Amino acid sequence: YLNYRVPQTRRDIIQTLIKGLQRMEYRGYDSAGVAVDGSGKDHAASISLYKKTGKVKALDEEIYKNNSIDFEAELDTHFGIAHTRWATHGEPSPLNSHPHRSDKNNEFVVIHNGIITNYKELKKYLVSKGYDFESDTDTEVIPKLIKYLYDNRESNYMSFSTLVERVIQQLEGAFALVFKSIHFPGEAIATRRGSPLLIGVRSQYELSTEQIPVQYNCSKSSSRHPYFSSTHTSPQTCSAHAIIEHTNKVIYLEDDDIAVVVEGKLYVHRIKRTAGEDPVRVIQTLQMELQQIMKGNFKAFMQKEIFEQPESVVNTMRGRICFDSNTVILGGLSDHLKEIKRCRRLIVIGCGTSYHAGVATRQILEELTELPVMVELASDFLDRITPVFRDDVCFFISQSGETADTLMALRYCKQRGALTVGVTNTVGSSICRETNCGVHINAGPEVGVASTKAYTSQFVSLIMFGLMMSEDRLSMQQRRLEIINGLQKLPELIKEVLALDDQIKSIADELHHQRSLLVMGRGYNYATCLEGALKIKEITYMHSEGILAGELKHGPLALIDKHMPVIMVIMRDACYKKCHNALEQVTARQGRPIILCCQDDPEISKMAYKTIELPHTVDCLQGIISVIPLQLISFHLAVLRGYDVDYPRNLAKSVTVE
Ligand code: F6R
Repeated sequence: YLNYRVPQTRRDIIQTLIKGLQRMEYRGYDSAGVAVDGSGKDHAASISLYKKTGKVKALDEEIYKNNSIDFEAELDTHFGIAHTRWATHGEPSPLNSHPHRSDKNNEFVVIHNGIITNYKELKKYLVSKGYDFESDTDTEVIPKLIKYLYDNRESNYMSFSTLVERVIQQLEGAFALVFKSIHFPGEAIATRRGSPLLIGVRSQYELSTEQIPVQYNCSKSSSRHPYFSSTHTSPQTCSAHAIIEHTNKVIYLEDDDIAVVVEGKLYVHRIKRTAGEDPVRVIQTLQMELQQIMKGNFKAFMQKEIFEQPESVVNTMRGRICFDSNTVILGGLSDHLKEIKRCRRLIVIGCGTSYHAGVATRQILEELTELPVMVELASDFLDRITPVFRDDVCFFISQSGETADTLMALRYCKQRGALTVGVTNTVGSSICRETNCGVHINAGPEVGVASTKAYTSQFVSLIMFGLMMSEDRLSMQQRRLEIINGLQKLPELIKEVLALDDQIKSIADELHHQRSLLVMGRGYNYATCLEGALKIKEITYMHSEGILAGELKHGPLALIDKHMPVIMVIMRDACYKKCHNALEQVTARQGRPIILCCQDDPEISKMAYKTIELPHTVDCLQGIISVIPLQLISFHLAVLRGYDVDYPRNLAKSVTVE
């Protein structure tokens, strides 16, 4: 966060940084820190660092406990950086939190998003040169390295950005970095490789252009573009949440871009030019509104997002399905449709909930596309070095568009010449930008760490893809019609399920002291069970397993007795009879199943301990309806068990490390 020649008190500066961190907090982090210009007359000649484990509020309180800070001091040109950490190397602790520093005088301080894979070699070298390390992190090599290069520079005129260029030439892994130094007061340097980074641009003047030319090998004396007379620049990693209340104008940096703000002007340059690269960085205007990400009257973002599903699925379909002509057009895929139709197979790749959306739609995609469909967990797909060919089409499902495993899998498939398709909820995310084409699920910002509305919108998006692929297949017209009608009625049916909230809460009241909860089903609803169990374990910390009912007698049946709570999903589809058999097996072992079934199913109801009766829809859409009671049950269980629904322990909303 940089402000140039507009005096602000230290309190204002710290508040801007803290607020920015709080807007990012929904992603789930374990510690936080800030660095601002220090106290004293020449404030930029020193840097003050504050770090704390726990929530950002704890850091805020820690700062205000400190009597030595002059909060009312007015600073003109100043530059502050702040960071929330999710521990990868080293436990959550103030020393392991960012910003990391070069030395006890805080000559250089750095914040980092990503992982430095060659940090051990760099650390060994720097230790041999006499540098002491205070943390267990990979990041700390960066401020130490820049200080080493600064202390050993050939000329006194070496610029801050040249030093940063030299640092990143030594780094391997993924990073988005922001540097601050007492040697370059009021200057900001930001760069990235592999991790996302955007710059928010606010100007008191009209912006004179909508793009920034990229310079090559630029030094401080390079020409100044009049556009860069902006007075307020806020670099943040990944998402625009932290800056959206200040500006909706952003620039997404590319790998190896170096952004320099000096004397209030922004320059973007690169170390070397690569053939065919774009010579400008466009200033984009984001549509995100602050109130869109606020909680409203709900207890938690997750609850709000569950209740938004009647609208979010409509937003996913809006302008894409014509219910009069029964046509589906996903604009982002149109240019590649011919190629997709010619492919050898579809590979659907994701992690967690996004993977489950692939599992949920696999059968209908196979039916509608008549192609083999593989559904893969990104990490496992990479571990197996899975063969991928030029005539494969690979889908990357990701709410955030930044999940490191999914992004790595995308790069892997791209390298092997496959056509890559992104299905994301975040415009401008890395997966969006790196895929050949894609679909925005348009679910709106998802803040709760436990994904809910993104799942149902991913589900609908993949179904729409299947419908688009089968448009010219005569034999499928009846089936397509049935599905399109089902999609049209979906919002009303979701509302009906949400109206069961009180009944679902009373079931949660009964279950919340239990240690385990099994969720069982098969066919189209196997994914529902996996997804329900994931929701339960991640926010209630109960043990929960999604069990394929077809596997019951191959092991899980041993778990069943009158004490083990079991939820069974038994809907009226081709697997109904088989699910009924599984139910018999469960009740024969004194199991007392809570059953999600279709309305008016006395046969099932009489064998259930409790039922949650759901509206019936087309078999391949039923999973959208049946997952909602499980989202609600996990929410109520977490509240009853006294946990923070939106910030489950140990989890982050956007997992940008492998
Ligand atoms: C579960 C959950 C995670 C994410 C997973 C992938 O509720 O949120 O399992 O689904 O980390 O994240 P995205 O979809 O952002 O790639």
